[in-house]
Amino acid sequence: MQRLKIYGKTRISGEISVQGAKNSALPLLSACVLSKGKVTLHNCPRLSDVFAACRILSCLGCSCSFDGNTVTIDSGSISKSYVPDSLMREMRSSIVFLGAILGKMGECSLSFPGGCELGPRPIDMHLSALRQMGVLIREEYGLLHCTCPKGLKGAKISLSFPSVGATENIMLAACLAKGDTFIYNAAREPEIIDLASFLNLCGARISGHGGSVIRITGVKELHGCEYSVMPDRIVACTLLGAAAITEGEITLKHSRPHDIDAVLPVFEQMGCNVYVYDDNIYLNARQKLQAVRTIRTMPYPGFPTDAQAIIMAVLTKAHGTSVIVENIFENRYRQVDELVRMGANIKVEGKVAVIEGVKNLYGANVVATDLRGGAALVIAALAADGETVISNIKLIDRGYEDIEKQLDSVGAKIYRY
Ligand code: UD1
Repeated sequence: MQRLKIYGKTRISGEISVQGAKNSALPLLSACVLSKGKVTLHNCPRLSDVFAACRILSCLGCSCSFDGNTVTIDSGSISKSYVPDSLMREMRSSIVFLGAILGKMGECSLSFPGGCELGPRPIDMHLSALRQMGVLIREEYGLLHCTCPKGLKGAKISLSFPSVGATENIMLAACLAKGDTFIYNAAREPEIIDLASFLNLCGARISGHGGSVIRITGVKELHGCEYSVMPDRIVACTLLGAAAITEGEITLKHSRPHDIDAVLPVFEQMGCNVYVYDDNIYLNARQKLQAVRTIRTMPYPGFPTDAQAIIMAVLTKAHGTSVIVENIFENRYRQVDELVRMGANIKVEGKVAVIEGVKNLYGANVVATDLRGGAALVIAALAADGETVISNIKLIDRGYEDIEKQLDSVGAKIYRY
């Protein structure tokens, strides 16, 4: 089992180009199932979850090859509509293959994704939407058997919550369906826009993405295209957090600042100077960090749940009391016990976390509990006295491409062993 060793108290300083977004790359890879021709995806992050998605594609009969950060997928020879349980378990978001496989093959069998580190991950909204589109779903022994005997048909679907995964699955299923599909109360995340832009480039007819009502007019077939995955807004927040907590400075290139409009003001409230120019963000932390007003995680354009643990780690050293309310997931404070081991003062009650800033954090042996919680430990370790060892880093590797290399390039003392 690999670990990260971090020697704290080194100032982050430098420039980084933000990697491609995991949460966009995965739905884009599943969307390739729908296309008849070859797809070339640039800026695709080399992550364990991305490799798992490629294994699912191969298992379906598609060819998939990596060259640096470019992946080429040819779905011309797709022959299967079944994803084995072992592959489903490798990656929680594999459920996004359901809509794409159904759209292409008219049937799909896969195992129920079940829970994960963040608590229960229900898919009731995904299934109810697909049923409205004419899909028959049989659930047995943890397996989902989906068929659409009369073909997929467009439907008017109203989501009770703007679920990112459900919106993606419906969009994917609707591209080749008969007629128009409308998604009301659709998710508005930038990754949804990336998926719609990609599908439209392949010949789909999607409009309204980025707003609350998305319309998908079914077409006969999709062709291949060349596309570049959007930058990862959560990795951008992580790097800004690393600079803020170490009183450092950082320039993020290719960072699409607008995507983190809800997060940048939080760094400013902490006392950081943030400048946005073109596609870049510059942050410096010359003053002592201050506590911030209550942060509530919300669907986009609200404060992202994925940035919650990262900002919490920075706030552990901010002067005063900060409050976070986690509204999206039930079990998303698992990093807290580990941060407390490092000297943080955090109390959690239900959805609410109260962070009392401390003068010093201390290096410790800690365990990554989930992807962003693991990144939060890295941030805390950068500002801690002494040496921190983080284990279970496979969870961090799910979302960060060579995190030690990225941080080393801006002055951190971080080693993988
Ligand atoms: C969520 C985040 C997304 C983030 C991703 C990875 C939100 C709104 N979504 O997307 O930004 O990138 O995790 O960490 O912040 N739910 C149901 N039934 C369903 C589907 C979802 O009850 O069928 C509930 C979930 O339990 C959860 C909420 O809806 O409480 C958000 O779910 P959803 O947006 O679907 O989650 P992801 O797609 O994983």
